[in-house]
Amino acid sequence: MSRINRPRGTVDILPGEVEKWQYIEDIARKLCRNFHYQEIRTPIFEHTDLFERGVGDETDIVQKEMYTFSDRGNRSLTLRPEGTAAVVRAYVENKIFADGLTTTKLFYMGPMFRYERAQAGRQRQFVQFGVEALGSDDPAIDAEVIALAMSFYQSLGLKNIRLVLNSLGDAQSRLDYRQALIRHFDPVIESYCLDCQKRLQTNPLRILDCKVDREKPEMKTAPNIQAYYSKEAKIYFETVLQYLDALGVTYTIDQNLVRGLDYYNHTAFEIMLDGEGFGAITTLCGGGRYNLLVEELGGPRTPGIGFALSIERAIMALNAEHIALPIEMILDCYVISMGEAARIKSLKIVSDLRKKGFSCELDYIGRKMKTLFKEAERAQAQFVLILGDNELKRGTIQVKHMATALQKEIHLEQLTQYLQQMR
Ligand code: HAM
Repeated sequence: MSRINRPRGTVDILPGEVEKWQYIEDIARKLCRNFHYQEIRTPIFEHTDLFERGVGDETDIVQKEMYTFSDRGNRSLTLRPEGTAAVVRAYVENKIFADGLTTTKLFYMGPMFRYERAQAGRQRQFVQFGVEALGSDDPAIDAEVIALAMSFYQSLGLKNIRLVLNSLGDAQSRLDYRQALIRHFDPVIESYCLDCQKRLQTNPLRILDCKVDREKPEMKTAPNIQAYYSKEAKIYFETVLQYLDALGVTYTIDQNLVRGLDYYNHTAFEIMLDGEGFGAITTLCGGGRYNLLVEELGGPRTPGIGFALSIERAIMALNAEHIALPIEMILDCYVISMGEAARIKSLKIVSDLRKKGFSCELDYIGRKMKTLFKEAERAQAQFVLILGDNELKRGTIQVKHMATALQKEIHLEQLTQYLQQMR
């Protein structure tokens, strides 16, 4: 029979690698608890309309990258390409906003799907960890969300991370800036790529981060968004910066940072990895404020801000910086039995030890002692326990402490105590 391989842009995360994921996911969960964000789990697929309206009809994600299909009832559904639209949908649908008293602080972790050109750090299925804080437009929460993202990478031990920040202003600032960009690029747009030609009317801000036309002279002379901030937008941004300073979070401001999704206003940010060995993709995390999205998705006007990052890129960054996570894969006991009677007894011993919290493995293939010891070493067992006929008669078991090679015969009643002592 011919072999079936996994679809392009997906990965199998195998034992040996999956422990890194568990470690990183654990850090994310602990941080969220520390910052008081609660987990939300939304469906993997949603109505296609949600992303068209939420992420934006004209974005690359909606235009080119969605996994959209009709189900048997002829509904158009889409595998989620990101988490924010779905979280906001759930917030509105479940009327989480109804208490209106507190800011709702949520986090999520799970697979997202984008039909992209697969390469290192760009997958078609990838796992995002993200947070969304809904209900507050206090600049302090912008600073908190950013600080949480930075803490995540710092907790992993990454050194060369850089926070890049911009403000896209409020609705009026954006509108004025949009017009200015149209005026600026219109006379030369024919020399730009087809995507940019479309973007001129649909979303001229996106021209600024076009990879194809990046070197064109008009890119460098394009109007600066700062000049179009309303007074409120300017003050808002300055306050966010002030709070970041107070938290000791360093940043650089990049006027060309516009982000690829339509829902942003005010604060927009990305965290990049500098340094060698990371290849073409340097963005680890992206986020920003979206004060109009809840209303856009049928809820009351509610401000929001959040970020998302992929675990894949976090692992790539760790590899680039040669950081080994402190992962322990220790097995407490590897149990070897000789003869049928000892075998039966060893099953019970293993079962009792597991109930007491010791991780245990048995030999299920029945090989020679030497091979079994190799197996135990490979599993990084702390102890090898050996039960033969003699031990069975005496009500004992041989316990070898692998680190010191000390072997002792221990009474079964004292086994737990001995293991605890030696651990
Ligand atoms: P995004 O910039 O589209 O924003 O994605 C955020 C992060 O997801 C990226 O910085 C990257 O780490 C990761 N990512 C995106 N696409 C891929 C891919 N194909 N393979 C691997 N990793 C990928 C959002 O998704 C927004 N929802 C973020 C947000 C939350 N804004 C406000 N709240």
